[in-house]
Amino acid sequence: MWKAGIIGATGYTGLVLISLLLNHPKIKITLITSNTYKGKKISDVFLSLKGLCEDTLVATDQEHRGKCDVYFLCLPHGSSMEMAKVLFDRKAIIIDLSADFRFEDTHSYERFYTRHSAKKLIPHAVYGLPEVYREKIKGAKLIANPGCYPTSALLALYPLLKERLLQGEVFIDSKSGVSGAGRELKLGSMFCEVSEGFRAYNVGTHRHEPEIKKEVEKLAKLNVTFVPHLLPMNRGILTTVYATLKQNMKTADILSLYKKTYKDEPFIRIMDEGIYPDTRFSRFSNYCDIGLKSYNDGTVVIIATIDNLIKGASGQAIQNMNIVLGIDERMGLTNIPQFP
Ligand SMILES: NC(=O)c1ccc[n+]([C@@H]2O[C@H](COP(=O)([O-])OP(=O)(O)OC[C@H]3O[C@@H](n4cnc5c(N)ncnc54)[C@H](OP(=O)(O)O)[C@@H]3O)[C@@H](O)[C@H]2O)c1
Repeated sequence: MWKAGIIGATGYTGLVLISLLLNHPKIKITLITSNTYKGKKISDVFLSLKGLCEDTLVATDQEHRGKCDVYFLCLPHGSSMEMAKVLFDRKAIIIDLSADFRFEDTHSYERFYTRHSAKKLIPHAVYGLPEVYREKIKGAKLIANPGCYPTSALLALYPLLKERLLQGEVFIDSKSGVSGAGRELKLGSMFCEVSEGFRAYNVGTHRHEPEIKKEVEKLAKLNVTFVPHLLPMNRGILTTVYATLKQNMKTADILSLYKKTYKDEPFIRIMDEGIYPDTRFSRFSNYCDIGLKSYNDGTVVIIATIDNLIKGASGQAIQNMNIVLGIDERMGLTNIPQFP
């Protein structure tokens, strides 16, 4: 058994990691941390874990180096890089769920986030999108788990980007459930602020836009516009991408390309022609569902859904861990989507 530590176990991604890892046949959770709830049992913080995990939370701000084989950093950006500096020893695997190591270029990170205090670690980090970077992930000791919106947008675009089939503008219109904002108290996440409404937010300023752009730019010169929206539901992301093909293609041919590109991917499901994904059908699972349609004028519309807390965060983190450990990528992630 490998020993896993969850740093920041009392947030939503930490909780989901615990729930998933309890069913992982090769992992034992040996460390869970929180500053706010240190000394309390995790099952007293989350009743969902009653009788399933009775471990006690220890302070995040204490020495944890050398205790685990794998550390999941479920902290806000800024705090994660400080923790990574302490834990990084080239032996343990560190999987950071924050944005701290997602940018290869420090200047871009600092423009959109904050000063980077662990610049020496950046060359060690691999962007943890398995469908694109599996070979690099295999040897990594520091993995930057992608953002939730970027995961959905990049998986929606990747086959067309890889084959250089797009030109011009790409519009990415994403909608997320409220858990995407984390468990911390925020006015904008409160029930009355969210329920029975639907709004765009951070238009032109959301930090996931530069993350999507820098990944798209690696494959194509396209103009990317990203607009996130908040949906009055707990979890799930639906991303609709509008792009222009260099040459018209039939929907069936693009679907064939997607099926071919993702044929060995355990967590990508391509819908048949005329069928489009629904957040309800990937909830609580690590699946990314994709459907698409092309139009006579060369426009292609691609729709992707994920569970933001699983494929968009903790599930993808486990998938990355499995890849580094050289075990079946699906381990601990075989949970079937729950509907209704
Ligand atoms: N939510 C999502 O869908 C999602 C998806 C992808 C990536 N992410 C990223 O994953 C990370 C965790 O997200 P989350 O949604 O789980 O957040 P969250 O629910 O707000 O939880 C944050 C956790 O970090 C701890 N924490 C907060 N401030 C801290 C500080 N200054 N020093 C040390 N610990 C601190 C909290 O622990 P205490 O008990 O000590 O307060 C809590 O356990 C974030 O970087 C987020 O951007 C989130």
